[in-house]
Amino acid sequence: KYLQEDDITQECRELLSSLPKEKGWVASHLYQYQGFWHPSRQLQGVLSCQQGFQAQDTDIHLVTTPKSGTTWLKAILFALVNRAQYPNDITSQQQHPLHANNPHDLVPFLELKLYADNHVPDLTSFTSPRLFSTHLPPLSLPESIKCSACKLVYLCRNPKDTFVSLWHFTNKLRPKDIGTNSLEDTFDRFCRGVSLYGPFWDHVLGYWKESLENPGKILFLKYEEMKEKPDEHLRRIAQFLGYPFSPEEEKLGLVDEILGLCSFDTLSKLEVNKSGKLLSGEENKTFFRRGEVGDWKNFLSAEMEDRLDQISEQKLHKFGLKF
Ligand code: A3P
Repeated sequence: KYLQEDDITQECRELLSSLPKEKGWVASHLYQYQGFWHPSRQLQGVLSCQQGFQAQDTDIHLVTTPKSGTTWLKAILFALVNRAQYPNDITSQQQHPLHANNPHDLVPFLELKLYADNHVPDLTSFTSPRLFSTHLPPLSLPESIKCSACKLVYLCRNPKDTFVSLWHFTNKLRPKDIGTNSLEDTFDRFCRGVSLYGPFWDHVLGYWKESLENPGKILFLKYEEMKEKPDEHLRRIAQFLGYPFSPEEEKLGLVDEILGLCSFDTLSKLEVNKSGKLLSGEENKTFFRRGEVGDWKNFLSAEMEDRLDQISEQKLHKFGLKF
């Protein structure tokens, strides 16, 4: 869905005309706001949530870089904090909300859904703990998120798989008549930082530093680590959020039940995720592609690999962050 002229406020229109602009991956342009790149529709949502969203101390925010496994973590967080309400085993006769809803509809994005198109959402139906999500970098978060005692779970992914996943995803979102973006062209833009919520490296580094300074507020996770030891990380997340698994729950195998319910295999085979659509128009199936670590090897040349490795080394290694 493209933003209609009418959906953009005068304030946003004026801002757009003053910002650095580059060719977009899906919509025609990306605009650089507070150091990061956004399409115009997204920018309206960013401004609206910065101005309107009031965080509560009990809120939980999932913050991610695009294509780092947001859909997966949304499912996990939803199943985790609501585990007393629903049976989590995948064979259960009784329906879990994840069986009938895409995770993006259960844990909505602030700027991309709730506040999209200058909408003022009614959040009164959200029960505590409220679960939200965002791709915003630290500086651009609504003030009340920074000031309140709410918790942030941050997820990122190695830049090679992130890029490959983003390239596939944005090509699927492009209107058929304008064709697809070439791998080489988008790769260059990704490396220069001109990608959705890019520069990628500034995003991850911002949250890495914040998590070191404030480990009680931000939990920093990587997709690869989640894939390698999902049970260990699920327990970490539960502990961090103040919802640890009791010995009884452990004995009942709840950790494995939640992971089974939220697995790529389970979610991607559900009817809602095979044929449903989000309100914002994306087909649910576009959020499930391969779900593996290292798929970049099937797409990137040795030169591309080197270029990404060098940027990561220059920008991240001195801060102790490696992918
Ligand atoms: P690939 O394109 O590499 O397959 P996001 O949810 O942030 O948009 O990220 C999408 C990526 O996460 C896609 O990666 C997608 O296949 C993968 N993914 C989606 N659901 C997943 C799940 N339940 N477990 C692991 N990976 C998942």
